[in-house]
Amino acid sequence: MRLEQLQRVAVDAIKTHALRLALRSPRAQAQVLTEYLWVEEGAESTALDRSRSVEPPAWLAKLIAAHLADERRHAGLLRARLAELGTASPREAPAIAHAKLWWIQRACAPFLDAFAAGPIVVLLAVAARFEATGVRVFARHLAVLDPDAADAVMLREILADEKRHAKSCAAAAKRMVRTNEQETFEALSARIAEIDRSFGVTLAVTHWVQVAALAARDRLKGGRPQLESVAAGVTPNERSIGGVS
Ligand SMILES: [Fe+2]
Ligand SMILES: [Fe+2]
Repeated sequence: MRLEQLQRVAVDAIKTHALRLALRSPRAQAQVLTEYLWVEEGAESTALDRSRSVEPPAWLAKLIAAHLADERRHAGLLRARLAELGTASPREAPAIAHAKLWWIQRACAPFLDAFAAGPIVVLLAVAARFEATGVRVFARHLAVLDPDAADAVMLREILADEKRHAKSCAAAAKRMVRTNEQETFEALSARIAEIDRSFGVTLAVTHWVQVAALAARDRLKGGRPQLESVAAGVTPNERSIGGVS
């Protein structure tokens, strides 16, 4: 198995386990949703928001404005759900979350003048990567949730938007890149993906430790019966399918 596949499998396994631990723990759920909020208000918004400074063509400016409005709506949904879970003032993103963005910006700097359409192409390449990552993250979460759970309803709505964003960012980048720039664009996209992946396992392990600690705290405070099935790696969906409940 290649290193990148190994990284993806490891991140998926670690994060899926963390999501299962969080199923019946309000504190752990709040931690997971807070991390989504950091992405909605941080990475996803930042990449496109910077595009305002580079004067995109009108059709693209309209698309970017619509995406940013969606990201604000996602953040609003997450903040409302966090308030329901008792987290009215979510924590700020830790330094490591900003570090990934900093490394990506640093890696992209040599490409800023590489395209005839300008630096907007670089911003679109970053946004396309973040949106595609968002699709994977929300789909992974939905796979462990009961379809009727409050988080599932909200995440399905966000996932539908992220799928659309990923597609339109990729299509916009393609439209802006000339045929003779294609190879450079692929090199840029590969570099962004490489940095994104290189942070993946570290961020996943950090995430797991935080979620597991919070789930354990809730279990000690009385959630034990519900968590027993989670500790065994069984989701509500799986329990229904297996006829256990
Ligand atoms: Fe979003
Ligand atoms: Fe998005």
